[in-house]
Order: sequence, then C-alpha cells, then structure tokens
Amino acid sequence: MTHSSDTLQSSYILAVETSCDETSVSVVKDGREVLANLISSQVETHKAFGGVVPEVASRKHVEVITLMIEEAIAASGVKPQDLSAIAVTQGPGLVGALLVGIVAAKTLAMALGKPLIATHHIAGHIYANRLIEELQYPAMSLVVSGGHTELVHMEAEGKFEVIGRTRDDAVGEAYDKVARALGCPYPGGPHVDRMAHEADHAVTLPRVWLEADSYDFSFSGLKSAVLNVVNQASMKKETLDPAAVARGFQESVVEVLVEKAIRAVRAYSSKQLLLSGGVAANRGLRKALEERCAKEGIHLLIPPMEYCTDNAAMIGAAAHLKWQRGELAGLDLQAQPGLSLEAWSVKS
Ligand code: KG4
Ligand code: ZN
Repeated sequence: MTHSSDTLQSSYILAVETSCDETSVSVVKDGREVLANLISSQVETHKAFGGVVPEVASRKHVEVITLMIEEAIAASGVKPQDLSAIAVTQGPGLVGALLVGIVAAKTLAMALGKPLIATHHIAGHIYANRLIEELQYPAMSLVVSGGHTELVHMEAEGKFEVIGRTRDDAVGEAYDKVARALGCPYPGGPHVDRMAHEADHAVTLPRVWLEADSYDFSFSGLKSAVLNVVNQASMKKETLDPAAVARGFQESVVEVLVEKAIRAVRAYSSKQLLLSGGVAANRGLRKALEERCAKEGIHLLIPPMEYCTDNAAMIGAAAHLKWQRGELAGLDLQAQPGLSLEAWSVKS
C-alpha cells in the first residue's frame, strides 16, 4: 500500500509517545485515520516494583524506540519522505521518559527534513475521540487517567479550559492504590473493575462531592475509607470479601464522575461528552455514562479500548490541530513534565 498519490492533499503525521510506561509510535492520516499504531508496554517490568520506576521506564524506552519507529513506518505503507511531520509528546509525564521520545523525534525530523510538532498528552487522550468521529463544539471532556482527572470545556477545536480537576489523587491512581490494598498486582484498575462485576453486594463507602457548584474531584478520602475497611477487618480477624469492597469503591467513583460530567455538559451546553484516558476502559464507568447519556439525550463518545490507554495514535490526532495551523516546534524543544493543557491550546 502506498499513499504517494494523495500526499499533496493529505497529511501523514508520525507520532511518538513515551510519557510514562508505554512506548508507542503511530502514523495517522489527516488526524483521523490510523495507518499504524505500535505499542510496547512495560507493565511486566514495573509489576515487580508495584508501580512505574522512572529510571527503568527511560531505559526501556531507549531499548525499543528506534526499532519501533522503523516498524511503524513500514506498517503504515507511507514512504519516510512522504511523512508530513513528526509529532511527539512534550508533557505532562516523567521527564526522563519524555526526553527519550523527544530526542528520537528530533533526530528523525532532522534526518528527514520534516517539521516537528510538540504535543500535549492529555490533548492526545481527548482527541483519541476524533479517531471515531468528527467532534462538535462546544464539547466537554471527562479525562480520567493514572495521573489526571479533569473536566475540560472546549469552546472550539483545540481550545481547552479546565473547569474541574482532582485536588488530590487521580482516579487511576486511586484505583491502583485500592487494588494494592486488595492484593492485586499493578496496574490494578482492570482488576478492581473485574472484581466489582463479580461481587454480589457492595460495601458502603462515602461519595465526595466537595462544594455544591464545584467541578473538582477528591479521591484520597475514599481511598482512605477503603484502607480503613481492609485494616479493620484484618484487626478483628473478620473475613472481608474483596470483590464487595471493589464494587463499593467503583460505585462511589462512578457516581461522582457521572454526576459532575452531566452537570458540566448541561452548564456549558456541550454538544458532545468525550470520555478519555486509561480509566475510560472501565466497564462500570462506560456503562453508567452510556445509560445516563442515552436517558438525557447527550451525545457520548468513548474511544475504542486500544486508544483509551496510552498510545501514539492519539498524539497524532492532537498534533494534527497544530499541523493545520502551522504551529510547529523548533529543534530546541524541551520536555515539560508539567505542561499546561490550556497553554497548549491552538493560537488561531
Ligand atoms: O491513561 P493511562 O494509560 O496512563 C496515564 O496517562 O496515566 O491510564 C492508566 C491508568 C492506570 O491507573 C490503570 O489502573 C487505569 O488507567 N485503568 C483502569 C482500567 N484500565 C486501566 N482503571 C479502572 N478500570 C479499568 N478497567
Ligand atoms: Zn495517559
């Protein structure tokens, strides 16, 4: 397969993602069509440590990145000289891990004489939704990942306003900590999700709403409540059904996320609700949002599983916004572990 005949009209962005523990390289056509999406997960390596070890993550990225770039180009069927630009995650993420992707992307951009596009990881998670269908604005995104929990209002394409965020733990982080307390391996989110579905009852746990008008979240109190239940049972030598705890935890998280997201959609007259981030893979959350949105007539988009957790196709989708507007990066691009989503908004 070659795409040389329509290179003048179409864009072919090669995207690199190394912000955490997945190395991923994709080629995306026109910000919407994934021609290749290779993902190498380091989960097995980090499992032994119960979480991501930054130094190990960087070394693992270095081991595979060059070969993955070659393989992604080959799998896409696009000739290297026909690539329009090289996109890379600039932040947020682990600085050493980001650096590996940035150096690889700069080297490729320089070798091929192609422009470089600096991309925001969360904008990527949000724009993974554009791989399913064209977005309509204003749109609201509920971002739920290992490091982020945010409600993001988008008045227009590429314009981000964070209207609510977690004040402590991110949802994925809370899932991983609760999973650890229940004896599950890292990353624990999928295990808690599975157990919640197996349970025949739920342990009652609190809902944290914060102030009545707030779109912010807080999950550390809920996490502590779970740890209390687990510790109390062990002190009293009572048997505790971990599945019932998982179900109680998941019900609390899902209820708060769904209520705040629906309220935000109403308040901002959003035409679509976009779910994004690794926790978007959660079956309980997907089902609850689907049911609620169907009932309320809200247009809900959820990316397919492979585009929910970290991947480079989503980076290619977000980078396209900047490509269209000629907002390119220089070869002096630096990793920014705390890069702001709002600051990354398109200029025009
Ligand atoms: O977006 P992501 O791949 O990485 C970050 O950018 O953080 O999200 C990873 C997070 C982990 O905390 C993982 O436990 C969680 O997503 N996760 C889930 C599920 N699948 C992944 N959490 C709950 N239920 C799931 N099914
Ligand atoms: Zn992510």
